Amino acid sequence: MNKMKKLKKNLGFLQAVERENGHKGGSNVILLMRKNYWPISDTRPLLVKAHEEFLEAKKLLNVICELNCEIEGWECCAELNGGIKEEEVSFIELGKVWQAPLYDIALDFTQANKHVRKNGGSPCTQHDDQELLPLFNNLVSNDTSYDMVSEFQTIRYILPKDSCFYMSELEQIHNLVPADSECGFNFIMIDPPWENRSAYQKSKYPTLPNKHFLSLPIKQLIHTSGALVALWVTNREKLRKFVENELFPAWGVRYAATLYWLKVKANGTLICDLDLFHHRPYECLLIGYIDRHVTDYELPSIVKSLKDQVVMTIPGDYSRKPPVGDLLLEYVPGPRPARCIELFAREMMAGWTSWGNEPLHFQDMRYFSRKITGKCTK
Ligand SMILES: C[S@@+](CC[C@H](N)C(=O)[O-])C[C@H]1O[C@@H](n2cnc3c(N)ncnc32)[C@H](O)[C@@H]1O
Repeated sequence: MNKMKKLKKNLGFLQAVERENGHKGGSNVILLMRKNYWPISDTRPLLVKAHEEFLEAKKLLNVICELNCEIEGWECCAELNGGIKEEEVSFIELGKVWQAPLYDIALDFTQANKHVRKNGGSPCTQHDDQELLPLFNNLVSNDTSYDMVSEFQTIRYILPKDSCFYMSELEQIHNLVPADSECGFNFIMIDPPWENRSAYQKSKYPTLPNKHFLSLPIKQLIHTSGALVALWVTNREKLRKFVENELFPAWGVRYAATLYWLKVKANGTLICDLDLFHHRPYECLLIGYIDRHVTDYELPSIVKSLKDQVVMTIPGDYSRKPPVGDLLLEYVPGPRPARCIELFAREMMAGWTSWGNEPLHFQDMRYFSRKITGKCTK
């Protein structure tokens, strides 16, 4: 019996490797699917193999070369701003003080084509090119096809084209629930502020006990066609059990696959040893469905193409996740373009709604570079 189990495990691994090499896996991949969500012990060979292939990939050298070349063509916004460094605003601190009506954000429409603008808020027009909107508990959107600059307390933020943010505490999230589920979301990305013993984390942002996430109105937020739900989790076994036994069932999510994020240094080596117990060089994104139309029959084929995918990036600021949204778009059920929302977001993306108590955090213009085209000669 044990031998059989081992054989199945190895077969599963080989098929994952084959797929990474561009071969088609056998149809029995689904039969080999493990029942539990996060087989940490089984993860090691997959990650080792993925990393080896990453290092070996000759093409990557060309990509790096091209990127270096591109970097030469980028200018830092700090430079564009005359090198002025402004003080950072803590939206968490500001959000805690109930003075929302006193804080306005100014949207600068100078670069936007006003003919395509149709902001849903109730703006108070200052002059032709600027609108003032309440910053907290208000859906602030850039419905134009241009990235837009907004200003709050002398700090400038980039609002990507066709994006919006709703900055609030958890208690107000129900304001995002659509009156009609035809206007709901079919792609929900969630990176919760899980409780963590790390004092460093505590100084970065507030965390919430698990029970708070049970009350997130996921079922009410989704589109008539259902939704793909992607949830970042830590490697703690207790948390994984909570998601499997309580959270996903409470949200009505059916687990489909896990996407692994392997963290590498700039030279391509792992940020730490794979076998360290308390600190692992990877995190997991659990992918599931709330299915109105995704049938039991369809799910295995989705699982098959999503299973054991590994994404490798250099980690950014504390708890910052790689932008994997685009990789998952093809698995989203329902309307196109997909209606995407990120919960507990710290940044905005074109085509997405960002909710959390600091969705503008990484939109600070100082994090952006302006691409100067035509400089690269290679
Ligand atoms: C894990 S971080 C999100 C990181 C983000 N995905 C990224 O890549 O940068 C969790 C976020 O939830 C926010 N948060 C914590 N408590 C909250 C609450 N009660 N309501 C809304 N957001 C909250 C934190 O301030 C933090 O921005």
